[in-house]
Amino acid sequence: MAFVSDDLFNEICMSNDIIDYASSFMTVKKNGKNYMACCPFHNEKTPSFSLDRDKQLFHCFGCGASGNFVQLVMRLEALDFKDALQSLAERANIKIPENGRRESDAVTRKKDSIIEMNKLAARFFYDSLMNPETGRDARAYFSARKLSKETIIKFGLGYAPNTTDALLKELKDKGYTEEQIVEAGLAVMRNGKAVDKYRNRVIFPIINVQGKVIGFGGRVMGSNELANGVKIPKYLNSPQTVVYDKSSNVFALNIAKNSNTRRLILCEGYMDVISVHQAGIPNCIATLGTALTEQQTRLLMRYCDEILICYDMDEAGTKAALRAIDMISAAGGRSRVIRIAGAKDPDEYISKYGVSGFKTAIEKAMPSTEFKLSLIRRKYDITDTDGKVRFVDEIAQCLAGITDSVEVEAYIKKTADETGISERAIFGKYSEHKKKSPGPKPDRTKEDYKRRAVNLINSEKPKEDRVSVAVMDAERKLLSVIAKSRRLCIRASELIEPDEFSNNIYVTLATRMYDSAKAGNQIDEAVIVNEFSGNTDAENIAAAVFFNNEEYTDNDKTLYDLIYTIKLNRLERRMNEATDPGEIFDLIKQKNKLISDRKEWQIKT
Ligand code: GTP
Ligand code: MN
Repeated sequence: MAFVSDDLFNEICMSNDIIDYASSFMTVKKNGKNYMACCPFHNEKTPSFSLDRDKQLFHCFGCGASGNFVQLVMRLEALDFKDALQSLAERANIKIPENGRRESDAVTRKKDSIIEMNKLAARFFYDSLMNPETGRDARAYFSARKLSKETIIKFGLGYAPNTTDALLKELKDKGYTEEQIVEAGLAVMRNGKAVDKYRNRVIFPIINVQGKVIGFGGRVMGSNELANGVKIPKYLNSPQTVVYDKSSNVFALNIAKNSNTRRLILCEGYMDVISVHQAGIPNCIATLGTALTEQQTRLLMRYCDEILICYDMDEAGTKAALRAIDMISAAGGRSRVIRIAGAKDPDEYISKYGVSGFKTAIEKAMPSTEFKLSLIRRKYDITDTDGKVRFVDEIAQCLAGITDSVEVEAYIKKTADETGISERAIFGKYSEHKKKSPGPKPDRTKEDYKRRAVNLINSEKPKEDRVSVAVMDAERKLLSVIAKSRRLCIRASELIEPDEFSNNIYVTLATRMYDSAKAGNQIDEAVIVNEFSGNTDAENIAAAVFFNNEEYTDNDKTLYDLIYTIKLNRLERRMNEATDPGEIFDLIKQKNKLISDRKEWQIKT
């Protein structure tokens, strides 16, 4: 860790409220001492995701995801540790001191400076667009594409003048070096010389969810085919930089996220998005020139439950739509497909059929399954018996991927009506495919999770050292009991060595807690869990220890019972493996001693 002190780490966490924070991502309901929600990390209908306001920890009893406040921010917002902590610090108005940044000071400074350069560049492009002379052609271009001044301002559109170094000069005047400007993606090296990257192009700033300009798209004005038939790229986009990653950001999400609809319209192009917004529909977004990625989908699902896909109707667009449908469904979202027949893209559709035409198309958006089935239908001639058979087979295969049984039944019925083949026969085909495809996994239960943790821990060990779920459970409970009080922790340290725990995570936790308690320090769960950061499995296992909400009527007795169970199990495991009579005899002696010690422990307290 070593990025901030434990004290500052705690101050930052404690100045925020994990319940407040989580509530902006999920519906959190109070349940006794705890708060429950549907887990954001796996699919479920009944809440098993639990939040502890006092300890600022989270734990899912379904999938086992666990951790402290910062780890929750990391996972929900896909941030690294430092950025997650930084974002919590900002929420609480706490400044992380310079010396608290040691670890990646250089990266932070680089990010800040690129964001700053981008901001200056965006300003420069905008000013160039508005300059009566310089921006004349660009303004005419936007005007030909029916963009209003208001829209231009809203999206911060601009123009890169037709020179090789106007922006370079501007940024150098502000104190940036050529090297920095190239690294920001605003200039490129040509024959050993830095020149502006964007020249004589209209500019679309790309702004992240936090409202920072992270990159640019620059479009040629008019056709990208030159008079001599040579094609130049229609768009030049920012290269990957420390602040710009085209596969994890989304165009216009900074605006669309405020639309309060829990529904987003996904288009292909910047121009499409801008037209749709100008039409008064504020929840439209686009990817950054690539197919929808998993990261983007996860980001989007934070702001919506349903995505309306509005891609071009050509083959490429249809293929991309199919991919997006699966991607969204895998992320637990719903999707529909807006069909814009008669136009190549939404932008053209709006100019041809007006805002009302587009709104009608939105209302008539097709459920994704129906969209998939309609594509299958197009492939076969069902007046022909063979075509009919193959058609039904492919439909059944498609339905096998659907979890909602009501939906499956409805489509089976529809297909039966259409083909005259009985519902029973179609269902039979569907079942065949269902058996072949594993389908979505059912929700994991608490028991599954325990088994998974045990398997994970056991996987590192020689056979004779492997433990059962019961032993792991006892060890976990023991650690959670000693986390409750210094006194119990010190008592445990007298009776059971860290090495007697069956896995490295627990050994580390025991050592760590014993040390804290002996040094007179409070045991700080969140800080300890941090020490496992970077290894999600370890994080989950460690945080789950602290998330034990069982109340014991007699903590002391529980402590002794657990220690006894763990020690006894260990001895018995060794006895089972031992072959040397001397060793066996010795183990029996140890076991007898343990049984008599057990009585002593209680008396001593
Ligand atoms: P118009 O042609 O002006 O309507 O632009 P558009 O934004 O609608 O673009 P289009 O539908 O042709 O392409 C969709 C998206 O793909 C664009 O918004 C860009 O993000 C990306 N894209 C298109 N052409 C290029 C290109 O030549 N290079 C790169 N890097 N990206 C491109
Ligand atoms: Mn277009």
